[in-house]
Amino acid sequence: MIFGASGDLTHKKLMPALYALMLRRLLPVRFAIVGVARTAGDDDSWRAEMQQAVRDHARDEFRQDVWDELAGSMRYVSTDFADDGGEDRLEEMIARCEKEKDLGGNRVYYLAVPPAAFPTIVEALGKRTDQQGWTRLIVEKPFGHDLDSARELTALLRAHFDESEIFRIDHYLGKETVQNMLALRFANGIFEPIWNRQFVDHVQITVAESIGIEGRAGYYESAGAIRDIFQNHLLQLLALTAMEPPIDFTSESVRNEKVKVLRALHTPGPKSVVRGQYGRGFVEGEEVSAYREEKGVAADSTTETYVAAKLYVDNWRWADTPFYVRMGKRLARRETTIAIQFKRAPHPPFEEAAGDGLRPNVLLVHVQPDEGVSLAIGAKVPGQGMQIRTVHMDFLYGGAFRTGMPEAYERLVLDVMLGEATLFTRADEIEEQWLLVDAMVSAWQRDRPGFPNYAAGSWGPPSADDLLHRDGRSWRRH
Ligand code: BG6
Repeated sequence: MIFGASGDLTHKKLMPALYALMLRRLLPVRFAIVGVARTAGDDDSWRAEMQQAVRDHARDEFRQDVWDELAGSMRYVSTDFADDGGEDRLEEMIARCEKEKDLGGNRVYYLAVPPAAFPTIVEALGKRTDQQGWTRLIVEKPFGHDLDSARELTALLRAHFDESEIFRIDHYLGKETVQNMLALRFANGIFEPIWNRQFVDHVQITVAESIGIEGRAGYYESAGAIRDIFQNHLLQLLALTAMEPPIDFTSESVRNEKVKVLRALHTPGPKSVVRGQYGRGFVEGEEVSAYREEKGVAADSTTETYVAAKLYVDNWRWADTPFYVRMGKRLARRETTIAIQFKRAPHPPFEEAAGDGLRPNVLLVHVQPDEGVSLAIGAKVPGQGMQIRTVHMDFLYGGAFRTGMPEAYERLVLDVMLGEATLFTRADEIEEQWLLVDAMVSAWQRDRPGFPNYAAGSWGPPSADDLLHRDGRSWRRH
């Protein structure tokens, strides 16, 4: 059951994911998809709209036979839940589907609605009169607006659902390359011994987007970059990079290790955080407006569209090793990478000039695009003498595996059906993430930022470069 069935997420991600699962025969033999939204409509109009969404956004080619099978299981209920009639209609519809298809009562509820709509829906769902089978609830981000509201939301959910029934989505965890971080670190013997403060000089995590806010001003104006991406996706990438090896891959073991990292994060001082907002500029050759000129954005908005920070994980493995992180909209390119930069060789036996073209070893995880992993090493330039230069050993998904890359939502929706929670964030992780973000945001209240401070299509404000230059380092070259 998808709440928010006429929304952006359902169009762009959920229906294409369900279609991909259907195409690969990964959906259960008997199922029904019930769309719930305020938008007026019926089964046929919703199916037509979703067919178009699948044509536009699915990663596979459109197959009429697959679509027809999926569409045959789709129903639509239009209600805003404020009136009890809607609730009853929905219950009737579900009862009918369950009976007709002999579904046995297992239910997945997907809350793809703005947070303000959560309480009414959750309370209505929580009544569960004589339901048979299991229930699972998927909650989209943002999970709260700060620590207090996240706790309130958890309390609301737990009043009606058990923690084991709640699946908080952070879709970055569903990305293949993000899961591969675990394989890279823990399926290989060579990385773990050097994955620490003794060998690693620093870590850089970049989540760069070339797109703007795509008409989501209503949400983005109050979220900003720090709540939209830093609080969730970026901190999760950091947690996976810095965590200790879990004893096994059960959801509790993995999440226990991640939460320890989040708990060990030191709140950065004001000098270690940079925020930015884009002005006009050119992105991929096209002129684009400033953030303040976007539809629905205040002309004097102080919402940040860029954040960079120097973070420390205060534990034995990482003490004094900076994690430089940055993320933003309307940057030069779409690029998500995790770069582990190792310390220089202690004593190169060559002449000083020999290594002019040599940079420190970097293990670079390309989360997206060009998914893969690359290791920068020094190599001798062929010819007379001893000239050393940096070269790259590359693993590219496209070359190594013939199968295409599944979309994050395919994996995550399937995991919920299977009751597998490893790739979902637990309440304590979310709280730790908010603790850090709340502290950073409250430091910002003290002064008014001089926005805009970076041109669309650039790599962010110059002060973000200073953040590293002060330490004698620089952001990875692009
Ligand atoms: C979402 C954010 O969570 O992630 C969007 O709300 C952002 O603002 C998106 O564009 C990025 O996801 P992806 O998978 O395209 O990197």
